[in-house]
Amino acid sequence: MLAGKHILLGITGSIAAYKAAALTRLLVKAGCEVQVVMTTLAKQFITPLTMATLSKRPILVEFFDPENGAWNSHIKLGEWADCMLVAPATANTLAKMAHGVADNLLLTSYLSARCPVAVAPAMDLDMFAHPSTQENLRLLASRGVKIVDPGSGFLASGLEGKGRMAEPEQIVAFLEELFDEKKKSLAGKHLLVTAGPTCEAIDPVRYITNHSTGKMGYAIAGELAARGARVTLVSGPTQLACPKGVDRVDVRSAEQMYEASTKAFPQADGAVMCAAVADYTPAVVADRKIKKSDDDMAIPLKRTRDIAAELGRQKEGRLLVGFALETDHELEHAQGKLERKNLDFIVLNSLQNAGAGFGVDTNVVTLIDRQGREELPLLSKHEVASRIVDKIESLILK
Ligand code: C5P
Repeated sequence: MLAGKHILLGITGSIAAYKAAALTRLLVKAGCEVQVVMTTLAKQFITPLTMATLSKRPILVEFFDPENGAWNSHIKLGEWADCMLVAPATANTLAKMAHGVADNLLLTSYLSARCPVAVAPAMDLDMFAHPSTQENLRLLASRGVKIVDPGSGFLASGLEGKGRMAEPEQIVAFLEELFDEKKKSLAGKHLLVTAGPTCEAIDPVRYITNHSTGKMGYAIAGELAARGARVTLVSGPTQLACPKGVDRVDVRSAEQMYEASTKAFPQADGAVMCAAVADYTPAVVADRKIKKSDDDMAIPLKRTRDIAAELGRQKEGRLLVGFALETDHELEHAQGKLERKNLDFIVLNSLQNAGAGFGVDTNVVTLIDRQGREELPLLSKHEVASRIVDKIESLILK
């Protein structure tokens, strides 16, 4: 959701400025570009070097560089930003924002910003509760400024009450909501997504699995839900948190995934088969732990059922998207699967590309349908998810 967004982060002179470091890290991790603008006093609380290192850009404080006269254009900053966030926002800066005072670069940037603006107040409880601060916040809110409500707890003054700046994770979630107000293009649609590995029991303590982490499938489920779709995520065991607004059905084996998927598919408008399903499972599962002996051993395996192929047989106008992970003859194999499984399109991952495959946060994929193919560059898994969902959207809304 936040990937690629330009965030103009204003930091003012509050002890909570130390939290701006963690906030910047989270934003950068989420794929944002962060430009920090600080007030002179903020530099006393957190160093420009820390903020420049974390944001990967020189920070800005003054209107111009006194050494060479280079101008820091607040107009350009305002145009560049997709969102201006002032965190922490002191009572002083809030008052100046509310009344149009323009005596530093942060404030002139605010006055010229055309993008959404959010503030995360941070101050002592009495300053926060003071009618003038409350009035200023009301005034800012009435002009569309979003307020990230401060929390209650111990304050730097030793007092306890409301005024602690919201935690960095909460601020990031707030920004996600802010950007999430985009068009719910898939409202009314229901998609099934399978994700993660399967685990095939050998005995009560051992199983056969693979390296899938579920990241790609979870990113797709999250993106579909963000665009308003109802999403049923049938997931093998993963370490991932369920994306917001997604119904997750937890399974372990290929057989359980088959049952859950064939049950959900008739109610859905389409399915994205992202799971790395085991092709073979032990023919018998020992009910007790298998004891070792001095001999070698072999485990007889039987074929599992192909979920994608089964849904392909039942699809009756529903959309079906598959994945292919290939190490050789990639296009040929992927095209074969497109036909055999009766898919609308297939997402080809090649393990031969650096930055693609299991566990990593990036992927290099080619989208293949009966009309042709589209090779995407190296992108984050979230951006890949967004491109795949763009294609789903174009087919399902046809
Ligand atoms: O044939 P292959 O396993 O390479 O095909 C991969 C595609 O088929 C993926 O979309 C995967 O989720 C799906 N699949 C499945 N059930 C299986 C095996 C693969 O849904 N048993």
